[in-house]
Amino acid sequence: NDEGQIETRKAFMEFSSSIPKRKGWLSEHLYQYQGSWYTKPKFEGLVSLQNHFKPQPTTVLLVSNPKSGTTWFKALLFALMNRTGQYEDNSHPLLTKSPHECVPFLESYAYDNPTTPYPDLPLLATHVPYASLPESLLTSDCRIVYVFRDPKDVFVSLWHFAGKRRPKKLPSLLLDEAFEMFCEGVSPYGPFWDHVLAYQKASLECPERVLILQYEEMTRDPIVHAKRLAAFIGHPFSLEEERQGVIQRIVDMCSFEKLSSLEVNKSGVHHGGTPVAVQNSSYFREGKVGDYKNLLTAEMIQRLDKITKDKFGKSGLSM
Ligand code: A3P
Repeated sequence: NDEGQIETRKAFMEFSSSIPKRKGWLSEHLYQYQGSWYTKPKFEGLVSLQNHFKPQPTTVLLVSNPKSGTTWFKALLFALMNRTGQYEDNSHPLLTKSPHECVPFLESYAYDNPTTPYPDLPLLATHVPYASLPESLLTSDCRIVYVFRDPKDVFVSLWHFAGKRRPKKLPSLLLDEAFEMFCEGVSPYGPFWDHVLAYQKASLECPERVLILQYEEMTRDPIVHAKRLAAFIGHPFSLEEERQGVIQRIVDMCSFEKLSSLEVNKSGVHHGGTPVAVQNSSYFREGKVGDYKNLLTAEMIQRLDKITKDKFGKSGLSM
């Protein structure tokens, strides 16, 4: 049945001729749809998602801007949901599968499988901005965990990622050019700041449905925040588990050092909503707070900080 595919390809044809288009980071172009920027596959995935996705009331959705720590939080949430007896004997799925295989991105799944029903998984992920989430999700009781990160580190991470993933046949993307685009909001699923602000607003309005967490907070105090996450998604730790050190073991298993040293994440690939297979290793680079200092000039840092200050303004968010 090719109906789903025809529907999304048709939507793309109609839409791509009439809407703003800019140079892309990972592909030739980004297209603007409902205020945000998408590659063609992600746009097609989104249209399919908006038309067909039906969550379970217990679905947990992880949301983020790209390069904000999604891989890490996929692993953490997956491990928090799957924690019976799999540590002792080294049989945990995260030891042999990429976090992206364990927790698919909705829009990538929709692009890869336009006619197959969505997998009935308790944990899913997306980068889609709040305003473009499918109506079925917005009106459901699903819990949303939103992770965000200092935009300076996000930009630098995205820049390096594009360097690895951008097809060699495309003209190169220079640092200054990429920086201008990011500041203007032209980055995958961008503008970065609007993405964060919309989820923060949703979290203020409905804290039992949307939890927002910062990458930097998680690096500072992973035990405290892993515990918070577990309680939020309905899998709180028992005193017995706390006594046995289960939280620490989960945090250790999901650490940058552990995950990036696993064979599957060093040499494996997965298919995730792109025409070509993705190297799992491209999702692990430094895993540090403040690596932007190694790439950005003082002016660039000042400029991004000013945009963040202006945009986050009275929201209560700060970096
Ligand atoms: P850097 O490029 O700064 O190293 P995403 O998963 O949203 O694509 O984000 C990727 C960023 O998260 C990369 O940042 C990557 O190194 C970092 N990362 C991946 N796994 C991590 C982990 N387990 N702990 C901390 N950071 C991690």
